[in-house]
Amino acid sequence: MNAAGRIMLTPGPTPLPPEVLEAMSRPLIHHRTEEFGALFAQVIEDMKWVYRTRGTVLMMTCSGTGAMESAVVNLLSPGDATLVCTTGAFGDRFVAIHRAFGLKPEVLAFEWGRAVDADALRAKLRALKGLRAVFFQHTDTSTGIVNDLKTLAKIVHEESDALVVVDSVSGLACEPLETDAWGLDAVLTGSQKGLMNAPGLGFAALSPRALKAVEAAGLPRFNFDYRLIAKSLADRETPWTPAISIVVGQAAALKLLRAEGLEAVWRRHDALAAHARERLQKTLGLPFFAKDPANILTGVVLPAGVDGNKLLADILREDGISIAGGQMHLKGKIARLAHMAYISRADVDAGVDALARRLAPTGEVRR
Ligand SMILES: Cc1ncc(COP(=O)(O)O)c(C=O)c1O
Repeated sequence: MNAAGRIMLTPGPTPLPPEVLEAMSRPLIHHRTEEFGALFAQVIEDMKWVYRTRGTVLMMTCSGTGAMESAVVNLLSPGDATLVCTTGAFGDRFVAIHRAFGLKPEVLAFEWGRAVDADALRAKLRALKGLRAVFFQHTDTSTGIVNDLKTLAKIVHEESDALVVVDSVSGLACEPLETDAWGLDAVLTGSQKGLMNAPGLGFAALSPRALKAVEAAGLPRFNFDYRLIAKSLADRETPWTPAISIVVGQAAALKLLRAEGLEAVWRRHDALAAHARERLQKTLGLPFFAKDPANILTGVVLPAGVDGNKLLADILREDGISIAGGQMHLKGKIARLAHMAYISRADVDAGVDALARRLAPTGEVRR
C-alpha cells in the first residue's frame, strides 16, 4: 500500500519502494556534474548486471515505447526485411512502429494467451530470406504470457543471420533473462515495472553485432540516435537533459535489487505468482487467460455478464485498489492482477479479496 492508502496491482507502473521515493524527492542536481556522472555510470553498470550482459547499455529519457522505437530506427534501413512475432498488444506495437517508419514487416501472430511457438518460428524463418531482425516480447503484458527466449533466439541464430530484438519492458528483473548467454542482440526496457522506478527512462542493451548494425542503419533518427548516446556515455553524460530525478530513483532501486540478488528476485516472482494463482483459484475459481503464463501478472477471465470496466472502477473507487482490465478486444472481459516488482503478498491478497467480495460474495466459488 502506498502513502495515499492506494494499492497498485497494475503491471506498470508498479508501486515504488520508500527508498526510491526518498531518492526522487531530493533537491535536483545538474546533469553536467561529477556527482551526476558518477551516479549515471553506476546506473549503467547496475543495468548491465540486471541485463546479464558485458555489452553496451544505453539510457534514454522516454517510456518503454520510446525504447522500442529506438531499436527500430537504430538497427534498420528503409526496405529491410524483418519478422515481428506477436502474442498480443505489444507485438502489434512493434508492427505499428515499423509501419510508421515505412517498413513492411512480416508478422507471425499467435492467439492471445499463447507464447510464440518454436516450430512455427522455425518454419517461418525457413520460408523467409535475408531477414535483418526478428522481434519478440519477453513477456506480453496484455495477455500475461512469457516467451521462451532462450529457445527462440537459438532458432533465429540457427536459421538466419537476423538480429534478435526483445521488448523486455515488463519482463526484465521479474523473469529470467540472459542477454549474452541467450544471444539477444537488443533488449529494450522501461523504468516503471521490474526496475521499481517511476516511468520515464528507457534502456537498450546491445550486443557487438547490434552495435555494428547501428553504424550501418539508414532510418532517420535524432533523439534516439544510439551513436550520440554512446558517445556521451563515454563521458558519463547523456546528449540531452535526462530525467534527472528518475535517474536518481533508478540508482536507489538498483541498489535494492543488487542487495536482494537477481536469482532471488526471480524466485520471489515465481513464489508470488504461485501464491496469487492459488488464492485466485480458491476464492474465484475463474479460468486464467494465459496458456503460457508469466510470473508478472495473472489474467482472470470474468464471468459472462460481468462488466469488467465497472467492476475494476468500483474496486478502485471503493477499495482504493488499482487492477488492470483487458486491452483491445479483451476490454471489460478480463482482469489483470499484477504480482511483480515491489508488489507484496499482502497487496495481492487485498486485490484477490476485492475481486472475491464482488464476484463470489457468498464465499461460493463461481465456475
Ligand atoms: C511488454 C510491454 N512493451 C511495451 C510497453 C510500452 O511501454 P510504455 O507504456 O512505457 O511506453 C509496455 C507497457 O505497458 C509493455 O508492457
